Amino acid sequence: MRKTQVKIPELPVHIALFMDGNGRWANQRGLPRSAGHRAGATAIKKLVEDCDAIGLRYLTAYAFSTENWKRPENEIKNLMNLIREFLDNTDDASKDSNVRIKFIGFRNRLSKDIVEKIEKTEERTRDKTGLTFVVALDYGARAEITDAAKKLAEECVKGNIAPEEITEEKVSSYLFTSEIPDPDLIIRSSGEKRMSNYLLWQCSYSELWFSDVLWPDFKLKHLLHAVKDYNGRIRRFGGVRK
Ligand code: FPP
Repeated sequence: MRKTQVKIPELPVHIALFMDGNGRWANQRGLPRSAGHRAGATAIKKLVEDCDAIGLRYLTAYAFSTENWKRPENEIKNLMNLIREFLDNTDDASKDSNVRIKFIGFRNRLSKDIVEKIEKTEERTRDKTGLTFVVALDYGARAEITDAAKKLAEECVKGNIAPEEITEEKVSSYLFTSEIPDPDLIIRSSGEKRMSNYLLWQCSYSELWFSDVLWPDFKLKHLLHAVKDYNGRIRRFGGVRK
């Protein structure tokens, strides 16, 4: 993307995405669902480059939820292979790219090779100063919060923390997103309007934007349309309008 092509509005710090509609996109073309996911992967890779070019700080994408394990084995395999490819391509491209990559979600159910690639990628891109691209993989908000509650309970039992020391900040520090600011804007493609167990703690004051565009067709211009709408909103965080 050349910066001169589009007028860039003021950007929020963190945009989180649902990449919804890959299956329907493929279906409309008489293609297998796997072709939809592949086109979806191409779309997010391009969007990451574009978001880095315009100076966005954080972009999070929901790649695979804790509930997605219910999908047919073949589809899961296919999605995991796209993640492998993404990690391998990032490896090749990382010298030129200034994007920092982080993964949120559980790692114990992922294949060992994927976990190794994730760790390598996070380590290699740790000091990059451009966009932070966060991939939510085997991520589920309820499981994330439950896990944090368990860990906090363990600390209380051990006597390391007193119950009255459990603040919202403390809980946040036990989530996968402890080093990531809460999303300012959450975009869901494909016309669906629900949260699907995504960033439920972190979205408390996020602004929501729904687009009818199916994910493989989603481009920077759609994201900027959402940002323009976001810029016209008044965020009160439970307070009153000043
Ligand atoms: C939802 O659409 C999409 C997913 C569950 C998978 C998204 C994952 C990718 C695009 C893989 C690549 C990711 C990266 C980070 C390289 P759906 O299949 O539920 O669509 P449908 O509702 O139309 O069936």
